[in-house]
This record gives sequence, structure tokens and C-alpha cells, in this order.
Amino acid sequence: MESEFIEICRIEDLKEKVGKQFFVEDLEIAVFKVDGQIYALSNICPHQKIHLIHEGLVEDGKVYCPVHGWQFDLRNGNLANGRRGLDIYEVKVIDGNVYIRANKKQYNW
Ligand code: FES
Repeated sequence: MESEFIEICRIEDLKEKVGKQFFVEDLEIAVFKVDGQIYALSNICPHQKIHLIHEGLVEDGKVYCPVHGWQFDLRNGNLANGRRGLDIYEVKVIDGNVYIRANKKQYNW
């Protein structure tokens, strides 16, 4: 079942290339604004499960984990070698309000 979009902030609350941490449902999400585009990724680095992606340096369409520098593509969360890295979340902006669809992981047991 798909989640609803949830309003998290105003677009002017996000600074260019400066990440911000949000808690949506029971997910922790790092949100970035780059060239007017909004990206939402998991805030938890898959390397050592550290919750600091929102403090990562943003450069060339990637965010660098501040702990050991793993790089994640802002568009798809993938690692530099193309391997799956961070979960990403759908974003929409309506009248300057930023919404995220925080789909929880679906497990097929
Ligand atoms: S914890 Fe992120 S690169 Fe090591």
C-alpha cells in the first residue's frame, strides 16, 4: 500500500546544498535542495548505519557521507560504483510547500 505525501517544510526552509534532517512516519530522511531541485534520501549511511547523511557535502550531484566519504547519487541513492546505497523518497512541491512520500519498506515473506 502506498503512503500519502506528507508536508515537511517550506521550500525556503532548505538552503542550497545544505542538507536537513526530517522524521517522517518512522523514517529518518535527509533532504537537499540543489539548483532548485529537491532530493530526499535515507539519512542512515549503509556503511556503519550512522545517521548523518544530512550533514554530507554536496557536489556534482552526489552527497558524501561525512564519516568516511562514501558517495551517493542524489537522484537514485546509488553508490559511485552503481551499487544500491540509500533509499530515496518521492518529493513534490506545491505552492512552496515540500511534500515527501515516505514509503516504508515492503517485505515479501
Ligand atoms: S559511515 Fe558513511 S561512509 Fe562510513
